[in-house]
Amino acid sequence: MDIQRVGIVGAGQMGNGIAHVFALAGYDVVMTDISQDSLDKARKLIDRNLTRQVSREKISQADKDTAMGRISSTMQLSDLGDTDLVIEAATERETVKTAIFEDLVPHLKPTTILTSNTSSISITRLASRTDRPEKFMGFHFMNPVPVMQLVELIRGIATDKETFDACHTVVERLGKTAATAEDFPAFIVNRILMPMINEAVYTLYEGVGNVRSIDMAMKLGTNHPMGPLELADFIGLDTCLAIMNVLHDGLADTKYRPCPLLTKYVEAGWLGRKSGRGFYDYRGDEPVPTR
Ligand SMILES: NC(=O)c1ccc[n+]([C@@H]2O[C@H](COP(=O)([O-])OP(=O)(O)OC[C@H]3O[C@@H](n4cnc5c(N)ncnc54)[C@H](O)[C@@H]3O)[C@@H](O)[C@H]2O)c1
Repeated sequence: MDIQRVGIVGAGQMGNGIAHVFALAGYDVVMTDISQDSLDKARKLIDRNLTRQVSREKISQADKDTAMGRISSTMQLSDLGDTDLVIEAATERETVKTAIFEDLVPHLKPTTILTSNTSSISITRLASRTDRPEKFMGFHFMNPVPVMQLVELIRGIATDKETFDACHTVVERLGKTAATAEDFPAFIVNRILMPMINEAVYTLYEGVGNVRSIDMAMKLGTNHPMGPLELADFIGLDTCLAIMNVLHDGLADTKYRPCPLLTKYVEAGWLGRKSGRGFYDYRGDEPVPTR
C-alpha cells in the first residue's frame, strides 16, 4: 500500500507536531481544523520548530523549506479526498471524533486508511462508525511529536493485517519506533501514566504536598524528566480528565475515579500550558504554582 498524501484533522498541539514529522519524512500533508486560528498557529509553530532544528544542525535549511512546502491547510474536510492516510487528532471527545469520521468518509477513496490519535477512546467503537472498520486503527503519537520516539499502534477488532503493516511501515519511515497495543481503554502508555498523574492531583487535593513539592519529589525521587503536575499541564488538563473518564467508564473500577480537583481546574478553563494556566501559571516569565 503506497502512502504519499496524508490528511490530519485537528491542528492543535498534536496535529501540528504530526504534520511536522510527516512533512520532514517526505509525505505531502493536508491539515484541517474547524478553527482558522488553529491552522494559522499550527503553521507558525511548525515553522518555528523546524527553524530550531536547523539551528541545532539536525536538519538543513533546504530540508526545512521543502517540508514547509509540503504542508497545506484547509477548513474543508472534502479537501482530504485524495489522501492515502488520515490521522484524526481533534479534541478528545467521542462525539467530536465520530462526527468528523461521518462527515469525512464520503469524500475518501475506498483505499484510504483512517486512523485516530486518540489517547483513550475505543478504536473498535470509532471504527464501527465508519464504512471501513478493517482499514481503521489507532495511531497514537506522544507529545511533543518531533521529539518523542514512540508511536503506539492500536489494532481494533476488525483491523486487517494490510492496514496494520502499512501503518507500521509509515512509523519506520518517520524514524520512530512502534509499540503495539490491544484496544482496551487508554492502551498502554496512558493506562499507566494517567492514574499516576491523577494520583499526583489527589496528593495535592489532600494536602500531602504542594505543586512544587510533588513535582520536585517525583523528578528527583524517581528520575522523571518532568514532575506529574508539570506533565499534566503540558498534556492538557482537559485531555487528562477525558482519559481518566474513559478509564473509569471503560474498566468500571473506582481506582480510576478522576480527582475532583482535576475536574475543578478543567471547569475553570485552567487547562495547562495551552490556556496559559493550570497547576502552574504561565503568563509571566517563569511558571508559578497555582497551589
Ligand atoms: N496532548 C497530548 O499530550 C496528547 C498526546 C497524545 C495524543 N493526544 C490526543 O490527540 C488529540 C488532540 O489533542 P491535542 O492535545 O492536540 O488537543 P488540542 O486541544 O491542542 O487541539 C485539538 C484541535 O482540534 C480541533 N477540532 C475540534 N473539533 C474539530 C473538528 N470537528 N474538526 C476539526 N478540528 C477540530 C480544535 O480546533 C483544536 O485545534 C486528542 O485525541 C488527544 O487525546 C494528545
